[in-house]
Amino acid sequence: MQDLLNEILDEVRPLLGQGKVADYIPALGGVRPDQLGIAVYGNDGQVFSAGDAETAFSIQSISKVFSLVQAIGHSGEEIWQRLGHEPSGQPFNSLVQLEFEQGMPRNPFINAGALVICDINQARFAAPSLSMRDFVRRLCGNRAITSDSKVADSEYQHRSRNAAAAYLMKSFDNFHGDVEDVLRSYFHHCALSMNCIDLAKAFGFLAHQGFCAHSGEQILTARQATQVNSIMATSGLYDEAGNFAYRVGLPGKSGVGGGIVAIVPERASVCVWSPELNAAGNSLVGMAALEKLSARVDWSVF
Ligand code: DON
Repeated sequence: MQDLLNEILDEVRPLLGQGKVADYIPALGGVRPDQLGIAVYGNDGQVFSAGDAETAFSIQSISKVFSLVQAIGHSGEEIWQRLGHEPSGQPFNSLVQLEFEQGMPRNPFINAGALVICDINQARFAAPSLSMRDFVRRLCGNRAITSDSKVADSEYQHRSRNAAAAYLMKSFDNFHGDVEDVLRSYFHHCALSMNCIDLAKAFGFLAHQGFCAHSGEQILTARQATQVNSIMATSGLYDEAGNFAYRVGLPGKSGVGGGIVAIVPERASVCVWSPELNAAGNSLVGMAALEKLSARVDWSVF
């Protein structure tokens, strides 16, 4: 596995320069574009990594999985009264469906859906940002994980589109908390700073029937873990979920920081990071690396 990861990074490195670092969040625009890292966390506890796997980056929408898992943990099936688990076929920040569908987001991974999940969590936790940070620290076993307040503040200053989604949902009575408070929590989650190894470890429970082996905690039931994986497979990469299924064939979740996490059920969790994005807002080189890895090890769930 170690040799394979080194080989794959060498093979995809020539693609660097073809994508574009996200700059709609100004604090992300300054990230060095040519970075590339990968980590694999096996269900047997082994970690393999290559490239810039120990460099922390902004996890952005990857945090939407952690929020969803927290919400399922305390409210279970009840959450589906407020949002769906259907793919949207639309960009992550699109508003068009939300108006047509009476303020009910298609799924928890588009921004509107993640905001509803944050609204649900906000009603449950006294300090939502701290509870999320501690949850993630437990999942990856790294007590040093923090949220980058410069990134969170930058996002809050440029919040118009997310605020529009939240206020639109409020007009349909599908948003109960204070919009500005929930936006601040959401941006704090997105601004969590983690590296590939942290993220591969944090997602291990989804490859392991909901069980986090290194903390010994049952995070979700086995059934709930398969359900989260199914939503990642159908909606984790937004309007590119079909392409990701075709090329990689694994449940996955991307973020505009350039990270992508993928789950190999019963075997491993993987995180790849390269900040340059393709037109759909997903890591261009990261996707290519995962495609090669999945093909070489024959990991596609299809
Ligand atoms: O709300 C936003 O637009 C960002 N904080 C997160 C978007 C994101 O990561 C989409 N993923 N590819």
